[in-house]
Parts: sequence; C-alpha cells; structure tokens
Amino acid sequence: MTTLDLWKDDYLVGVDKIDQQHKILFAMLGDLLELREDVGSINERVAKLASLVEHLNNYAVYHFRTEEFLIHRYVASDISVVAHKEAHGSYANSMQGFEGRFQAGDVSVVNDLIDFIYGWWVSHIMETDKGLGKALNQAGVH
Ligand SMILES: [Fe+2]
Repeated sequence: MTTLDLWKDDYLVGVDKIDQQHKILFAMLGDLLELREDVGSINERVAKLASLVEHLNNYAVYHFRTEEFLIHRYVASDISVVAHKEAHGSYANSMQGFEGRFQAGDVSVVNDLIDFIYGWWVSHIMETDKGLGKALNQAGVH
C-alpha cells in the first residue's frame, strides 16, 4: 500500500474516464517514488522496481489506447492528435531504453527511471492531456 499521495486536482483534464485512469497511474507512481528512499538493499529495490514498472507499463498501454480511441472517435481532425500519439510513442521508447540499461545490470537506473516517469506523467498531463480534455469537452465528452 502506498503512503505517498501524489495526486492533485490540478491534474484533472475534465473527462471522467481519463481522470480516473490518471488517478490510478498516480497511485502507481506513489509506490514507485517510495523506492527512491534507501530502504533495503539495491537488489531488493531493483526487484520491486521491476515489478512496479511492469505493472505501470501495462496500465500505460491500456491508458494510451483509451486516449487514442477517444481522439479518433471525437477529435480526429485536431492537428495535435499526431503530436499526442508521438508523445505516447516516445514514452514507450524511453522506457525501452531504461529496460536496456536494467538488463545490462546498471543499477543506477533506479533513481533516473523514477524521476523520468514521474516527471513525464506530470508534464504530459499538464501540457498535452489538458488540451485533449478541452477538445473532448468541446465535442461534448466529459
Ligand atoms: Fe496522453
């Protein structure tokens, strides 16, 4: 169970389905950020991190599909669609890069990865998903 509650209502984009999923993602980020503390050995932290990241990646794929479905269904003419999908793709690429370092035995990846993931979600929501939320609201989706 996480004790770190990172969610802020500033992150709401105004579309229920997206907001609910973002809250779940932030609960996972809370678990992840707890691993930044020096608890247990580096091997224990790496093992925990691997399982949390796998869980988070699976949920992120599902979440990106949800957003991309909504984009196609309601706001496909919006030019920002391409950039939005590219942002999701670049997240996946970055995660693969970390995975490679992981598998090469680079344990310093732990804090870099945690910082990257947290920063990415906050800025993606604030800079990209907020715009999507507005466009969806204008299309009557809340
Ligand atoms: Fe997004």
